[in-house]
Amino acid sequence: MSWFGGLKAKVLVNEALAKHTTLKSGPGAGLWIEPFDKEDLRALIKRCRSLKKNYFILGSGSKVLFKKKKVPLVIHLGSDNFKRCALEGTDIIASAGVSLNRLLAVAYENGLGGLEFLNGIPASVGGALALNAGVGWPVRLDIGTFVYEVEVMDRLGRVRTLSQKELKFKYRWSNLKSRVILGARFRLFKKRKKNIRIKMDKFWDYRKTTQDLGYPSAGCVFKNYNGQSSGRLIDLCGLKGSRIGDAQISAKHGNFIINLANADSKDIVSLIKLAQRKVRAKFGITLEPEIQII
Ligand code: EPU
Repeated sequence: MSWFGGLKAKVLVNEALAKHTTLKSGPGAGLWIEPFDKEDLRALIKRCRSLKKNYFILGSGSKVLFKKKKVPLVIHLGSDNFKRCALEGTDIIASAGVSLNRLLAVAYENGLGGLEFLNGIPASVGGALALNAGVGWPVRLDIGTFVYEVEVMDRLGRVRTLSQKELKFKYRWSNLKSRVILGARFRLFKKRKKNIRIKMDKFWDYRKTTQDLGYPSAGCVFKNYNGQSSGRLIDLCGLKGSRIGDAQISAKHGNFIINLANADSKDIVSLIKLAQRKVRAKFGITLEPEIQII
């Protein structure tokens, strides 16, 4: 029996990661495992630990670039047991695999406001929490602000609920990354559906107008530097439209790298380095990727 035998998980061998990243690039995953439920995940994690197998937890794949030739093991919380949403008063309790789209739909349907700024971000709850997804317009707003507690599993398979006091969120950062995020309780507030819709539309319109949504991308590649838009810095270096292979710095927004057709991860990395080199030379600033490069 293989080392993962006996689990209830869905297991795929040599799964193309390009199918699971919004950049639509990347190598294969030796094993792609979707645990059936928490117990199954716990068993898997414990086996990985005792066999010293490294794994990567992938959500919606919107902030990750795989540049390795092969990734041995990817765990994805894609089963229905990780896609649950429940309502308690003005709280929504959402599992890690729930998409932000669905979370917003549930909030809207139940007249709960707060999260409208997330409209259009192609992330799962788990990924959005790990990176503290947010926007910078018209003011900075991050998902962490609305989180009341988070359920996590540690690398030993132990489940814990972290209270607001134990949670730390900063710009594009949380203290959750070393654990597997299982779900969260969002504390929202009553709001008229009409006003929720107006606000959701406002954020979506801004995104459509300013960002390059016509091609696969990972959204903004770099974090902003001290509140300065990295996209603007890249733009001021005259790099918009620069192309290596099928990877291109978007002509619409300097912080987007788009995949024109079959971009190789290597070419995307070369564009990342080019932008870093030019911005460092012109402004003395080292741009820090906001996407995870594996
Ligand atoms: N700008 C340029 N040239 C460009 C891009 C932007 O001059 O190529 C200027 C804009 O005209 C504007 C300013 O820079 O005056 C800020 O641009 P924008 O509003 O697009 O925001 P940003 O700082 O570039 C941040 C987030 C986005 C988020 C937007 C809108 C980061 C790294 N990026 O971008 O997040 O959607 O604000 O709220 O914090 C993401 O993380 O994937 C992402 C897209």
